[in-house]
Amino acid sequence: MRKKIVAGNWKMNLDYNEGLALFSEITNMVKDEITGKQQAVVCSPFIHLHSLVQMAKGYDKVSVGAQNAHQAESGAYTGEVSAKMLKSVGVEYVILGHSERRQYFGETNELLAKKTDTALANDLKPIFCIGETLQERESNVHFQVIKDQLIEGVFHLDAANFAKLVIAYEPVWAIGTGVTASSDQAQEIHAFIRKEIAAKYNQQVADDTTILYGGSCNPKNAPELFAQADIDGGLIGGASLKSRDFVDILRVFNA
Ligand code: PGA
Repeated sequence: MRKKIVAGNWKMNLDYNEGLALFSEITNMVKDEITGKQQAVVCSPFIHLHSLVQMAKGYDKVSVGAQNAHQAESGAYTGEVSAKMLKSVGVEYVILGHSERRQYFGETNELLAKKTDTALANDLKPIFCIGETLQERESNVHFQVIKDQLIEGVFHLDAANFAKLVIAYEPVWAIGTGVTASSDQAQEIHAFIRKEIAAKYNQQVADDTTILYGGSCNPKNAPELFAQADIDGGLIGGASLKSRDFVDILRVFNA
């Protein structure tokens, strides 16, 4: 049975104290309210990570993730943070290939393949993001775009390594816009992604892969989205900055 995951992506928000306060609220609410096997993952800016990992001790339903990691093991890359450094403070997950990284920092599928390798080599679990722009959807090339992102970004992995990934489908036109993909639109793409994984690896690997939906997901639309057969949770931006909203989204999977 694949894992149900709700991951919060704080992006470049919250100073150190604000981040710790929010995380403390989240851990307390999760302890009191979460009755299923779902996992919360909080992906904070680098500055918070070490403290959040300490605070998460004893809360096995809350994990900590970074939002990026460099592709090199170490070296003269001023301002960057390595996968090994993240691992050394106890970080478990790392978001790779978020559309904002692709768009504003020029991250290509080729670069992301390297980042994925380095993250896995350092025992981090990548949350690998894929998704089409509005223009790509309107030109009806969205399936091909997603397929290329998979082929060029992660399909070089062997099955054992691929199995360590979480995939996040985030239509770029739905991120931070308040526009959500309909549950049918999202399910259609999630099913397509799972079919591609089955074709590349096998049905078992595909059935075991957690595929998250991201893009203006909130407590109102999460129940319908998460009820779809191939949607295993969410990657949450704006709504992850409010403990009540984030935990309400997580509660959708309560037993
Ligand atoms: P959003 O962001 O929920 O604010 O649309 C999602 C994301 O970028 O991961």
